[in-house]
Amino acid sequence: MFKGNLLEKIRTKFPRAAIDLNGQPRIFFDNGTGTLVVGKAAKAETEVRIDCSANIGAGFDESVKAEEVIHKGRKAVADLLNAASSETIVTGESATALLFNLSYAIGKELTGTENVVTTEFEHYANISPWIELMERRKIQKVKFASLNKDDGTLNMDHLQSLIDSNTKIISVTAASNVLGTKSPLEKIGKMAKEVDAYFVVDAVHHIAHGPIDVKALNCDFLVFSGYKLFSSHGSFLYGKKDHLETLNPYKVAPASDHIPWKWERGTRNQSIFAAIEGVIDHLVWISDHVQSDYKERYPEGSWRRRSLKVALSSIEKYEEELSKAILHGLNGIKGLKDMPMVKVYGLTDLSRLKERDPTFAFKVNNMPDHEVAMNLWTRGGIAARAEDYYSRALKTYNQQTMIRISLVHYNTLEEVAKFLTTLHEICQARTPASKKRPK
Ligand SMILES: Cc1ncc(COP(=O)(O)O)c(C=O)c1O
Repeated sequence: MFKGNLLEKIRTKFPRAAIDLNGQPRIFFDNGTGTLVVGKAAKAETEVRIDCSANIGAGFDESVKAEEVIHKGRKAVADLLNAASSETIVTGESATALLFNLSYAIGKELTGTENVVTTEFEHYANISPWIELMERRKIQKVKFASLNKDDGTLNMDHLQSLIDSNTKIISVTAASNVLGTKSPLEKIGKMAKEVDAYFVVDAVHHIAHGPIDVKALNCDFLVFSGYKLFSSHGSFLYGKKDHLETLNPYKVAPASDHIPWKWERGTRNQSIFAAIEGVIDHLVWISDHVQSDYKERYPEGSWRRRSLKVALSSIEKYEEELSKAILHGLNGIKGLKDMPMVKVYGLTDLSRLKERDPTFAFKVNNMPDHEVAMNLWTRGGIAARAEDYYSRALKTYNQQTMIRISLVHYNTLEEVAKFLTTLHEICQARTPASKKRPK
């Protein structure tokens, strides 16, 4: 549990944590698609939109201030990821766009004999850019490490067997956006270094769920998106300084040849930098409540990194409790002859909660997924969905859709209890969902 009444306080920081745009109570379990926005980020973003709408590079105040905002935002992200410096943080329209940009830049170095290794539970944002390289004959093959289907974890022996001296890129998600399973990044990073391949991490899904340290992971690139971290759209790519300097992304001739700008296409949107700094402030505020005495012990400039680690570690711990309650409840929904009514895809073992994020994909016996999702909404005011989430994991399980709920640190055990009772009722009633939620 978060200390004292910290959870209540956290929920006050998210204007839509408890009620939706109509002022109706609602449980938001669709965070994997995009989290709610923290008030601080939205406020900072609006202020910058109005006060610093001018472009950077001129001497008047709005322009100078806009440049400061961008610099501070980059620095905040560098602290979040424990990156060496703010110049190693590149922004782009989305994680998908950044990964395409990266694949094109690396593609310029390739000879057509290389291969890329990725996994069966990636989002297609981390598949299509590499397939594109293959179709343009920049690489020979994209190889997919298989899953242990019974628990949704990566088959590490298979992953190892795919890597050879021609492997140029190993690109994996930090956690599956459908199954919730985390990838053993440290191990995979070491495998990549053994063959001198680029180690690329897609942290889009995992970013809200625990600390990430690019130095400790020794990854070459890592990408995440602001809208999955309580902020606005717009995404961030970390790259090792040497790589960012040496690689040559596609750019227009007059654009800067220096990092990070040479990687950024077109004009920056300064408001996303203000928003992400708002999120970082929110996380620091959490750490102040969790453990307030460390600032004195860390030199000026390094305490924020420490705070972010403290905040995200406490979030990680709290989310394990949410996972435990969900899995325990889902396992307990039984039908005739005590048969399980709900099939969960992925890790269900309560002793292995550290290996997953609180993201759960499931199906209810004999009921179409969209009926279940709609019923969750109309009966319980629970925002969830049923689709394919652009994830390769569905193909692995031979499914077109799955129902997914994904929780973050502002969700509560009371919400979990309400979800479980509602799902139980849905399983008992087996009625089609009404189209509208009763007022
Ligand atoms: C794991 C993962 N990677 C990549 C993406 C794509 O992110 P973006 O929408 O910023 O391109 C998503 C989006 O859901 C995701 O969950």
